[in-house]
Amino acid sequence: RIPEYVKIVEVGPRDGLQNEKDIVPTDVKIQLIKMLAASGLPVVEATSFVSPKWVPQLADAKFVMEAIQDLQGAKFPVLTPNVKGFEAAIAAGAKEVAIFASASESFSKSNINCSIQESLVRYREVALAAGKLSLPVRGCAHFLFIYIAVVLANKTNHLKWLILENMHRYISCVVGCPVEGAIAPSQVAYVAKELCSMGCYEISLGDTIGVGTPGTVIPMLEAVIKVVPIEKLAVHFHDTYGQALANILISLQMGISTVDSSIAGLGGCPYAKGASGNVATEDVVYMLNGLGVKTNVDIQKLLVAGDFISKHLRRPSGSKAATALMKT
Ligand code: HMG
Ligand code: MG
Repeated sequence: RIPEYVKIVEVGPRDGLQNEKDIVPTDVKIQLIKMLAASGLPVVEATSFVSPKWVPQLADAKFVMEAIQDLQGAKFPVLTPNVKGFEAAIAAGAKEVAIFASASESFSKSNINCSIQESLVRYREVALAAGKLSLPVRGCAHFLFIYIAVVLANKTNHLKWLILENMHRYISCVVGCPVEGAIAPSQVAYVAKELCSMGCYEISLGDTIGVGTPGTVIPMLEAVIKVVPIEKLAVHFHDTYGQALANILISLQMGISTVDSSIAGLGGCPYAKGASGNVATEDVVYMLNGLGVKTNVDIQKLLVAGDFISKHLRRPSGSKAATALMKT
């Protein structure tokens, strides 16, 4: 029972470009976002309003957002780690924000420089501010296949923190972390349920370091689906071990219809050791086309966007489908 339509959330301009050694010029980012939106993608995560000292690659967030103000046809959410980032995002014209947290103390510290408790307070403030403006909030659940597991299992407070981060979009460390081991599906389900009850319109389950296989993803999803309406769930797979398409396919078979991906397979998290690129958008669209699933994305236009950014970065595309299609 694969969905007839899948919503693709393009994260390349944010997840991809946050990880580039050489900073990509603002006009290249803007051009890329325009090309991605023109290909029919319904959501393009545009940038992050984070500290420029932490992620200098996205220090031009304000200028990127201002330049795409009048762009139609797609939504352009941005990451906001605190109220300062939230306010800057709104001032620059953002209409949707995402918070991102980890259930692991160590990952929290290395990614956003605070404890889980501290981040809980910050995200409550952001959620409140977003609520006042009636801004849609997407929860990001980074289920690092190992990181969060033990922490979640042992520390209730951490779970609460995760709930808040997900209000916007992500739960991190969904399946594991490089330090702490495997996550119990029941713990992920608990967090997802809490996030859902906080009012997130969508919860993206992220395998931040790409270690999950269908063997770990299926039980995790089975547990989450029991407590969160499936239409609220999204999946976010990094492709470190080449498992992303397999994980997406089983997610679709289980009824999930929102998938995060990144043009040319760009991506990674500077503060998640071992994380490589996201699954390539071109590969996802190629697979969905083959399955007869609608995306409204024009793969030819995607190829042009992928070629544009790969040429700029002076390296071959990380998408196998794009590489093959460009030769034919
Ligand atoms: P901090 O250094 O603890 O912040 O960083 P602070 O509050 O002590 O402030 C220090 C300085 O930063 C001050 O400036 C603040 O004004 C400034 P100074 O007085 O020194 O000149 N500052 C800011 N500037 C701009 N925007 C802001 C902001 N906040 C403070 N929002 C902080 C704490 C959270 C800011 C920092 O750790 C940070 O920016 N972290 C972001 C890390 C990041 O972006 N990671 C990647 C995204 S997560 C990911 O990729 C995973 C995901 O894809 C899902 C998956 O794969 O599973 C989402
Ligand atoms: Mg990511």
